[in-house]
Amino acid sequence: MKAHIVLAHPEAMSFNAHLSGTSERVLAAAGWQTTLSDLYAMDFDPREGPHHYRSRKDAEVFHAQTEQRFNAENETTPADVNSEVQRLLDCDLLVVHFPLWWFGMPAILKGWIDRVFVYGRMYRSTVRYDTGICSDKKMIACVTTGASEESCSYNGREGDTRLHLWPILFPFRYLGFDVFEPEIFHGVGGVAFIEGHDSGSSTLDTYSKRWAAVLETLSSRPLVQYNRDDDFDETKRLVSGAPVYSPFVRHMPDGIAD
Ligand SMILES: Cc1cc2nc3c(=O)[nH]c(=O)nc-3n(C[C@H](O)[C@H](O)[C@H](O)COP(=O)(O)O)c2cc1C
Repeated sequence: MKAHIVLAHPEAMSFNAHLSGTSERVLAAAGWQTTLSDLYAMDFDPREGPHHYRSRKDAEVFHAQTEQRFNAENETTPADVNSEVQRLLDCDLLVVHFPLWWFGMPAILKGWIDRVFVYGRMYRSTVRYDTGICSDKKMIACVTTGASEESCSYNGREGDTRLHLWPILFPFRYLGFDVFEPEIFHGVGGVAFIEGHDSGSSTLDTYSKRWAAVLETLSSRPLVQYNRDDDFDETKRLVSGAPVYSPFVRHMPDGIAD
């Protein structure tokens, strides 16, 4: 069984880097073969653009999906993307570590998705969602926030982090992954706050143990629920009576006319 770990953090002393180390250690101890993409250490270029393509379908106008597909078909996908694609296709479990930055993911991780989720190779209209290329795989996100659990809760001032994570995790569902409920570590101040916390155990120790326990019990962890393909009609709208799992895909909201 292969686990691939993606880390989106510039600092080796960060909580996220430490927690990704916990992932490597705990998964290896459980018999997983692990690989790591430390995006900053790799200097991964998150900017999709013409500078990545020597061979172009349209040399005049750059259209990202057109060039992704053209290069996938010609086996000229950029090398840095190709190796990430291969790691995704090889793994059974994907673990993604990142801090919440401005209520979203760090730009380097967004750019990794933009480039590595290659149109024509990782998805196309007939290969996505229930029939996605990664539908035999699972993923989990390990996320830190600076804000407290209370302020990130459903009625908190920062907004509900679980809702912020919905669009972040949806690309993985789009590729077909079964997405585990994310694990969120709140109130993480950053490097300077790693040590010196209460009760003889640092926040990092406490969180690292909690994360290890998550990984050790992963098989019984609930999955994020998404609508299945047949919950939608031919216009791709939710059919009447289909279940609703998120405010992002819902039946007619109060007060909105069709
Ligand atoms: C650019 C930037 C944006 C941030 N935005 C948020 C945010 O939207 N919500 C939040 O709770 N914390 C935010 N923070 C705080 C980080 O989430 C926090 O420092 C991080 O989770 C700590 O983990 P680390 O040691 O791995 O960096 C932000 C930090 C930075 C640098």
